[in-house]
Amino acid sequence: MLYLSHIASLGAIFQLPATGYALLYNGVMAVPTLPLSPTDRVFVLTGAGVSAESGLKTFRDQGGLWEGYRVEDVATPEAWDEDAARVWRFYSQRRRDAGQAEPNAAHRALAGLEQRLGDRFLLCTQNVDDLHERAGSQRLIHMHGELFVSRCEDNCGRPPFPDRSLYESEEAIARCACGARIRPHIVWFGEMPLEMERIQREIDRSTVMLVVGTSGAVYPAANFVRWAGPRVRKVYIGPEEPMNAAAFTQIVLGNAGEVLPGLLQVV
Ligand code: OAD
Repeated sequence: MLYLSHIASLGAIFQLPATGYALLYNGVMAVPTLPLSPTDRVFVLTGAGVSAESGLKTFRDQGGLWEGYRVEDVATPEAWDEDAARVWRFYSQRRRDAGQAEPNAAHRALAGLEQRLGDRFLLCTQNVDDLHERAGSQRLIHMHGELFVSRCEDNCGRPPFPDRSLYESEEAIARCACGARIRPHIVWFGEMPLEMERIQREIDRSTVMLVVGTSGAVYPAANFVRWAGPRVRKVYIGPEEPMNAAAFTQIVLGNAGEVLPGLLQVV
């Protein structure tokens, strides 16, 4: 079983300065385009970094979300049991922020790549915002859930539903038809990420893996690069090396919105 988890220490991220956008992992300057053949299948994993240039906070960067909140207070089933209103206040603020944000050049470049590749493309995001779909992505998995969706806390059988409401107090929390409270459709730590079988299948048949803007601190997503076969090209894009850097074929240092439009000019 693969539950959402993260490593105990976040202090070991090896910081490199953002030196532009074309540094190969072995230190050789790379041409910032991604060559793709007509038979390549591309699996993309994105994290909070892809939405950073849209003004949304990442989790672990300086000033990030986890600097202002403890994971245990807002992103675990225990936190929900202890103080559901506190949890909803956190996600209500996330709803406000994401509702005001707009997709950036990185979201649009990934949607453009999907247009060109069709079924040979899958985008798996750890992000719960809706910026990928608003940029036009369709072959998309939200493995950590969706911010603008809620569901019954008791899993009574009624399906998750679209919800943009803000709940700031225990009394304000809406009730499911079964009487239980509704909760965010978010995968909390200790819960199972969504659609893992489909993700595993798509990784198995991919020939290229692009990982964008994720620190490599949260599992199972941090292991996807290791699940991919040895012949899969594995490229990381972000301003600093992720914690799982050694597993990549190539690391392209830079902001996603600056790197991806050029990188994905497929040749
Ligand atoms: P993190 O905050 O851990 O990592 C964000 C990454 O984005 C860092 O490695 C940054 O270097 C990078 N970054 C910052 N700005 C960027 C930019 N402009 N372009 C590209 N990269 C940039 O966020 P995640 O790895 O996404 O889970 O976190 C994974 C999960 O942990 C989240 O889905 C969330 C969190 O706890 C849940 O809440 C369920």
